[in-house]
Amino acid sequence: MIGWRARRLSAAALVLLLLSACRGAAPSAPPAAPAFVPVSAEDQLSAMHRGMNVLDEDPLWDDPAAALFQPRHFARLRDAGFDTVRINLHPFVHSDASGQIDPTWLATLDGLVKAALDDGLTVILDEHDDSLCERDVAACGPRLRAVWEQLAGRYRHAPNRLLFEILNEPHDRLTAAVWNDMLRDLLATVRATNPQRNVVIGPAGWNAVDQLKTLDLPADDPHIIVTVHYYRPVRFTHQGARWVAETANLSGITWGTDAEMAQLVKDFDAVRAWADAQHRPMLLGEFGAYDKADMASRVRYISAVARVAEAHGFPWAYWQFDSDFTAYDIRRDDWVRPILQALVPP
Ligand code: GLC
Repeated sequence: MIGWRARRLSAAALVLLLLSACRGAAPSAPPAAPAFVPVSAEDQLSAMHRGMNVLDEDPLWDDPAAALFQPRHFARLRDAGFDTVRINLHPFVHSDASGQIDPTWLATLDGLVKAALDDGLTVILDEHDDSLCERDVAACGPRLRAVWEQLAGRYRHAPNRLLFEILNEPHDRLTAAVWNDMLRDLLATVRATNPQRNVVIGPAGWNAVDQLKTLDLPADDPHIIVTVHYYRPVRFTHQGARWVAETANLSGITWGTDAEMAQLVKDFDAVRAWADAQHRPMLLGEFGAYDKADMASRVRYISAVARVAEAHGFPWAYWQFDSDFTAYDIRRDDWVRPILQALVPP
């Protein structure tokens, strides 16, 4: 009898407790910050499907008050079907002569990383400072090392959904031989504070698919995701792009013949074969078509690349959210619908 009463009382107390908790009356401790839990490169990749390159040219890096991109855009991305963002970083211009990164810039990055992780996204911190390295390896190596000492140290306890990409599109003076040495040095810098975080690395030669064969990774490090970028044929994807001399004056080039489609599939078959032979998970970190191509061809191209990548098991990140290759019209604050639907079919 007494036992029954005690049980009945405790059940009543439980109901009261639950009710007060529902009303928000019961004080509760905030959840502990999620500590880093190692995840294999393969498992990490399988949680990534559709991604977006963001923030490359946003004025917020110089002046947070001038931001076009707002933290709420991470939720906009997630709600549209994206699970990954690749944040394009240019810390060199925000560092002093000794390589120390400006605290205001770091605070801006902290806020963005937190907002994106809180929205459930996987976040790649992409060091996008390849243009000094293309002409001066001796100057760029130590600066990259300083960047990664600071960023890797700063985010060493971040959840495993934060990944580091040590350098975007190494090229020119950063030949494959030079890059294969430098990537070891930078990886060791990261590993000093992040022994098991997954790191994204692509081949020299602009991360191009046909350069994978030149990439030499440390065989004893399993926490590497390999990345490639795909802009073939450049005369289509970069027509009218002022920064590519060979294609700056081109216009009116369409895409979508059977032969072009077959070439795309053949290129991705070769990437799949390399990834299988090397036992490395593969991310398509950039692809896209510049705004000057006709919209029908851009839609054909973007949806073909995305679907072929998916069929080969490669998560992808589109280049880019706003500014050019535009998926999102940030001044109108809405998607460029045909591009969004090419990326994420309704
Ligand atoms: C690379 C460049 C970027 C350019 C894009 C497309 O990521 O770093 O500046 O817009 O490719 O050409």
